[in-house]
Amino acid sequence: MIEEIMKEAEEKIKRAKNLDELNHVRVEFLGKKGKISMLMKRIKEIPSEERRKYGKAVNELKNNVEDLIREKLETLKNLEKLRMYESMWVDVSLPGAKRKTGHEHPVMRIWREMEEIFVSMGYEVVEGPEIEDTWHNFDALNTPEWHPARDEHDSFYFSDTSLLRTHTSPVQIRIMLSRKPPIAIISPGKVYRRDYDATHLPVFHQLEGLYVDKRVTVGHLKFTLGEFARRMFGEGSRVRLRPSFFPFTEPSFEVDVYLKGYGWLEILGAGMVDPEVFKNVGYDPEEWTGFAFGMGVDRVAMLKYGITDIRELVKNDARFLSSY
Ligand code: DAH
Repeated sequence: MIEEIMKEAEEKIKRAKNLDELNHVRVEFLGKKGKISMLMKRIKEIPSEERRKYGKAVNELKNNVEDLIREKLETLKNLEKLRMYESMWVDVSLPGAKRKTGHEHPVMRIWREMEEIFVSMGYEVVEGPEIEDTWHNFDALNTPEWHPARDEHDSFYFSDTSLLRTHTSPVQIRIMLSRKPPIAIISPGKVYRRDYDATHLPVFHQLEGLYVDKRVTVGHLKFTLGEFARRMFGEGSRVRLRPSFFPFTEPSFEVDVYLKGYGWLEILGAGMVDPEVFKNVGYDPEEWTGFAFGMGVDRVAMLKYGITDIRELVKNDARFLSSY
């Protein structure tokens, strides 16, 4: 009887999978009405000569079962702890949940890339004011009073002589007035015109370039812009110069760049600095020569990223911007 109960208890303690189950086993054997407690109660019914032996055996049984339960309790508690630790476990080496970050606006990125290309060729980045006077914006650049570019329909005037600059070319004038050649500068920045449609914004960006030294030729100009095109649009890009007119250059050119899949695209204006401009800043046109160019930053960004409506650039639609 006692042996059987011991076996049964051993078996059930072994099988108990958690604290709850173990507690049931404990009650079944050691509880008030438990199997072992019942054996204890029967001690009175045992004939006195066997009582000692019986009592000893039941007591042993009780102690053994208690020991087993205590042991199992330890094991289960440890298991439970392990299980809890397991559920709390985090792999700190896993990559975190990424927060969406913004990035450079496509126009700013092209602006920066343009600067990097010209700076690597030895050009210095300079800035000029966005509020200009008509002398720097037009007169000094050999643009006469009657020229259509001066028309108030095209420009934002504050007064007869003060306006938002219509191009970055007046920075040429400011730099030449304040320095002696040789000069190699680029000047990126905002410019303003009274235009608004799919290809024009009232505020857009240009990058002006000016190189002044002795014996500068169209060859230098073409090489410089060709190098720029190759670095900006990739190996195999070429430039071609088409005769054109600007008041501040002579000869003047429209410059096209050859883009695979697109053909020739006009990206900038350029030319050899007009002797009249040199005279306006006090340079001797017999001594100094130079080339200048001006390109649209937004326009290059549109070409490079295949954007067809320039207004997309200023809508601040994160879905549009994040696709570049
Ligand atoms: N200023 C011209 C414009 O806004 C662009 C330009 C053309 C700049 C020829 C130059 C140049 O320096 O040589 O359309």
